[in-house]
Amino acid sequence: MRKQIAAANWKMNLTYQQGEKLLDEILIEKIALSPHQQVIFAVPFPYLIMANSEVAEESGYAIAAQNCSDKKNGAYTGEVSAEMLQSIHIHYCIIGHSERREYYLENNKLLAEKINICLQHSITPVFCCGEPLRIREEGNENAFVQQQLQESLFHLTAEQLKTIIIAYEPIWAIGTGKTASTEQAQEMHRHLRSVLADKYGNEVADEIPILYGGSVKANNANELFGCPDVDGGLVGGASLVAKEFVAIIKALKK
Ligand code: PGA
Repeated sequence: MRKQIAAANWKMNLTYQQGEKLLDEILIEKIALSPHQQVIFAVPFPYLIMANSEVAEESGYAIAAQNCSDKKNGAYTGEVSAEMLQSIHIHYCIIGHSERREYYLENNKLLAEKINICLQHSITPVFCCGEPLRIREEGNENAFVQQQLQESLFHLTAEQLKTIIIAYEPIWAIGTGKTASTEQAQEMHRHLRSVLADKYGNEVADEIPILYGGSVKANNANELFGCPDVDGGLVGGASLVAKEFVAIIKALKK
């Protein structure tokens, strides 16, 4: 069975103390994870070390960065490199979140660089793709996401591709309370898998976890995660509330 993943994306929320409390409240639940289930917390940079030591003992739990630089090192004030993340034992990083694309003008080509640098440092990228509302209204969402995969991922070998995680996040559903219907999510996830299969073959495509993101909540996670091609979620708002995120973890396919 493919990995089933609940990934929390805290974004630029919570003080250090609030973050510590939230992690405690979730970990204390001692949710039993099966070997194919994984829980990831993408926390702000200054909290990475604390969060990593909090989850160190818990198998199936990991900490992620929300971004990293496309550059190796050097005079890039304010940037954080993949090598730095690796040096503090961070093994996951969100790459190409739509907020990075929109507010910091990250494009598919730059994201390909970030993917490369993550892989060079044994960091699993959680690569985000997804269309804005206008593209969906025009009916061009399939071609749009296909291009995102082609331009940021298709230079990878099959072996490299197999190590990454994809998150489909329709931009019109992020933070809006508007969720894709299960039909829309399943249809797009199947499309993404078929795009991967055309390039890398079915066997590789079948192994890649594809998470859904965009207003995942405790009350819709069961339905969304029940879709055959939806392998969990990347969760913003609801990941900031312990009770909500605990229920979302419990909704992962067993
Ligand atoms: P949301 O955010 O769950 O608040 O919609 C998801 C995301 O941006 O990763």
